[in-house]
Amino acid sequence: MFMGTFQLKLDDKGRLSIPTRYREILHQKYRSGPQQADPELVLSSIGPRISAYPRAEWEGLADSLTEAITLPGLHQEARDLYHVLFGNAAECGIDAQGRVLIPPHLRHKAKLNGEVIIVGLNRYFEIWDREAWEDYQASLQGREEEIAQKIVELLLLNEVLEFLCPVSSGVYVDATLGEGGHAEGILRLGIPNGRLIGLDRDAEVLAVARQRLAAFGTRMHLVHEHAMALRSVLESLQLAHVDGILLDLGVSSYQLKYAERGFSFAHEGPLDMRMDRTAGQTAATLLNTLDESELVALIQRYGEERWARRIARAIVRARRHSPLRTTRDLAAVVTQVIPPAARPRRIHPATRTFQALRIAVNQELATLEPTLRSAMACLGEGGRLCVIAYHSLEDRIVKRTFQAAEQAQVEATSAVRVLTRKPITASAAERQANPRARSAKLRVLERVCHKSRQPSRGTA
Ligand SMILES: C[S@@+](CC[C@H](N)C(=O)[O-])C[C@H]1O[C@@H](n2cnc3c(N)ncnc32)[C@H](O)[C@@H]1O
Repeated sequence: MFMGTFQLKLDDKGRLSIPTRYREILHQKYRSGPQQADPELVLSSIGPRISAYPRAEWEGLADSLTEAITLPGLHQEARDLYHVLFGNAAECGIDAQGRVLIPPHLRHKAKLNGEVIIVGLNRYFEIWDREAWEDYQASLQGREEEIAQKIVELLLLNEVLEFLCPVSSGVYVDATLGEGGHAEGILRLGIPNGRLIGLDRDAEVLAVARQRLAAFGTRMHLVHEHAMALRSVLESLQLAHVDGILLDLGVSSYQLKYAERGFSFAHEGPLDMRMDRTAGQTAATLLNTLDESELVALIQRYGEERWARRIARAIVRARRHSPLRTTRDLAAVVTQVIPPAARPRRIHPATRTFQALRIAVNQELATLEPTLRSAMACLGEGGRLCVIAYHSLEDRIVKRTFQAAEQAQVEATSAVRVLTRKPITASAAERQANPRARSAKLRVLERVCHKSRQPSRGTA
C-alpha cells in the first residue's frame, strides 16, 4: 500500500521523481499485460492537489463512480465532482528514471510551485504544493477527535448495509440519524420506493440530515425524538412493523465539531454536552452540584477512569474558587492530576472523564436497554436490528439484551436470532490507525417469526 509522506522537487520541465518505495509497489502490484508493460498513472485534480492512481485502481474507481452517478437522489455535488475528476484526468507514463511528467493544466490547478509533498493513501497517492499541504495540516489541528469519529462512522457502513439489505418495498429506520450517512446509503440501495424513517434527539443534527437527504423527497420522514419513542413514531405513521432498524450509538462527528456543544476538549466551549438541547441538565450543572463521592462514582462507572478519585477531588477544589464553565477548564483540571507518566499515549488524558459526563448527561446507558427492546418489538418478520456501540459498557448491554431476547422466546408470538456471535469490528489496520475504531462494535439481530394479527406493514 502507498503510505507515508515525502518532500520532493519538481524539475524545471515539471517532472517528478516517484519515491523508490512507490515505484517498487507500482512494479510489483500494477505491472500488467502480456508484455508486462511499465505501469501507468492516471492523474487528476480536485481541490489544491493532484491524485495519482495506478491505472487498475483508476479503472475500478471509474466503474463504481459511473454506476453511482446513475442512482436517483444523488447529490448535485457528487455529480459536479464526477465531472471535475474525469474532465481533468490525464494518463501519464513513468520514464526509465522513474519520473512522471505532470501536465501543465494539472500543475496549474494544484498550484504546484517547485517543492511538493507526496502523500500515500493506500491504493493511490496525492501530490500537494508544500505550502498548501502545510496550510491543510494546520487546518486539521484540534479536529482529530471529530475526524476520527467521522472515519469510524464510515468504517462499518458497508457491513450495516449488507445486513439491512434495503429493497424498494421496504421500510427502514435509522433511529440515530446523525448527519444521515447511513440513511443516505439505505435510501440509495432501496431505490426506487424504499422508505426511511429517521430519528435523532438532536434537532440541530437532524436539520443537517434533512438538507442532505432532501433529494429523496417523500421517501424519507425525519422526527426529532429519542430512539426509545420509536414505537409511538411508527404508530403515528400507521406502521405496525419495519424491515430494518439501525442504532449507531453515541456522539456524532457533527457534535464534536462545534465548540458551543461542549462535547470536545479540543475546543473552548460551554460545558453543555446535551444531545437534546431542549431538555435535561448540562455537564456544567452536574460538575458543579454533585458531591465528591457522586463525581467519583460517575467518572469511575461511565469513564472506567482509574484516576477518578483524584479527578473528582480536583474538580471539587477548583469549583470552590469559581464554577467550572468551559471544556478547557475541565480538560486542564483533569490533565493536571494525572501523573505525566501515567497519561494515556494515544488519547487525550481527559477523554474518559468527558465520556463519563456525556453518558451521564444524556443518560445513554440508562435508556439503552429499553431502546433495544422497543426496537426489537418494531421489527417485522425477517427484519434486522443493527447496533453499533462505541465503548465496552454500551456493547455489554447490547450483547446481554440480545442474548436474553434470544434465550427467552417467552412471547409465543415472536422469536429472534442473533446473527453476530462475535461483534463485527474494524480491520486490524484501521484499529491501529484510529483509537476510536478499536471500540466500534456492530451486533445484529433478526426477527425470525412474528405471528401478530396486524399486517406486517401499514400505509403512512
Ligand atoms: C454516531 S452518530 C450517527 C451517525 C450516523 N449513523 C451517520 O451516518 O451520520 C449518533 C447520532 O445519534 C444521536 N443519538 C444518540 N443516541 C440517541 C438516542 N437514544 N435517540 C435518538 N438519537 C440519538 C446523536 O444525537 C447523534 O446525532
